Amino acid sequence: SDAALPRLTVIGTGYLGATHAICMASLGYEVVGLDVDANKIKKLQSGEVPFFEPGLPELLAKTMESGRLRFTTSYEEAAAHGDVHFICVGTPQQPGSDACDLTYVDAAVRGLAAHLTRRCLVVGKSTVPVGTSARLSDMLRELAPAGDEVELAWNPEFLREGFAVDDTLRPDRLVFGVASDWARDRLHEAFRPILDLGTPTVVTDLPTAELVKVAANSFLATKISYINAMAEICEATGADVRDLAKALAYDDRIGGRFLQPGLGFGGGCLPKDIRAFAHRAEEIGVGQAVSFLREVDAINRRRRSRTIDLVRELLGGQLDGKRIACLGAAFKPNSDDIRDAPALDVARTMHGLGANVRVYDPAALDNARRAYPELRYGTSALDVAQDADVVVLLTEWAEFREIQPSALAQVVRNRRIVDGRHALDAEAWRAEGWEYRALGSP
Ligand code: UGA
Repeated sequence: SDAALPRLTVIGTGYLGATHAICMASLGYEVVGLDVDANKIKKLQSGEVPFFEPGLPELLAKTMESGRLRFTTSYEEAAAHGDVHFICVGTPQQPGSDACDLTYVDAAVRGLAAHLTRRCLVVGKSTVPVGTSARLSDMLRELAPAGDEVELAWNPEFLREGFAVDDTLRPDRLVFGVASDWARDRLHEAFRPILDLGTPTVVTDLPTAELVKVAANSFLATKISYINAMAEICEATGADVRDLAKALAYDDRIGGRFLQPGLGFGGGCLPKDIRAFAHRAEEIGVGQAVSFLREVDAINRRRRSRTIDLVRELLGGQLDGKRIACLGAAFKPNSDDIRDAPALDVARTMHGLGANVRVYDPAALDNARRAYPELRYGTSALDVAQDADVVVLLTEWAEFREIQPSALAQVVRNRRIVDGRHALDAEAWRAEGWEYRALGSP
């Protein structure tokens, strides 16, 4: 019955926290979401999700109606409410360093700890360098009035933007890093409805739980850079990385997911996580074990410059003064997130080289405009392609895949297209007289 459910708080209502709070409330828990950003809290209170995520606004409306979900800026209120407190604040890359910035995690733990006057569990979900939880445990014990009664656990989160609701409600697995049976039991209570689906669960210690997250993201990044490294070899040999990837994927030990060649990975997670992991490993004297992550990063960065090389080649060696239509700004489709977005990196570099760049994206235009007012933006693919010398597809939104080569041909000055994501049917475009180019394909 509901009486047996632990009461939850979620500290940090960004991408991860807002999704977690809303999903847990939808499962029947009483949830308080906290953020120090009063603006974010005001928006959530009025039923508005402050970022683009399919399905989340509808779920927020439903859970607000149920009365099980509240938002606050008060640590005192959050501490009084929660039996289990989830820490969901961001851990961005430090400016000028590869290390992870733990300012927000420390501030959240400090802010909460001051008001913890009874037995409760604090659960870290943020992505952190291994060893962080040991330090936070000490901090909690020292700062919380309830002292040893407050325990720390780690529960890494694997949700993908664009699939956040589904990934949260039906995760591939749950990982519980705990220091006691008591903590494990509290986590079981806090995830009961998800465990009841038969979700595989790994119960382990805290450092392992911290590591699982960065190990998973590093593997995914490595897989993407692996196929992009093969694309480089293909370019030098006249082979076709598209067929190569397809053939590899039929081996289900390899699998086709995260084996899409192209412009490479971006976003707020993969790039900064591999750098922070390499950095942390160096700090603790095992840098050699993951030095390959430096190479993974380098391969990924080269994708961006190679894409620009391809545009330049198509234009006969010159970007200066050329009209370039950029399709996509978000770091991936179904997202408005432009953090470390390969698309905008390419657009900005070409702009810096003197090209007349116009950008369109179905969801990320507002964010792009705010971050890079120097670029020009348009209202649709056809709009930015008007009189273009070349069209460059940078984010593989479904609406770009559906563009008819004949329709785009009507508006451009020259039928040239660079497919930065291997998203288009090369034959269909060539049949309409387009010069079609993609990295790693002849
Ligand atoms: C990633 C992980 O996939 C999640 O499991 C994890 O929870 C999350 O980071 C996180 O740490 O919070 P996300 O950043 O939302 O999720 O995006 P992904 O779907 O992983 O895509 C990352 C980047 O890789 C995108 O730029 C995408 O375009 C690129 N990508 C992906 C490729 O270039 N090729 C592929 O085959 C797949």
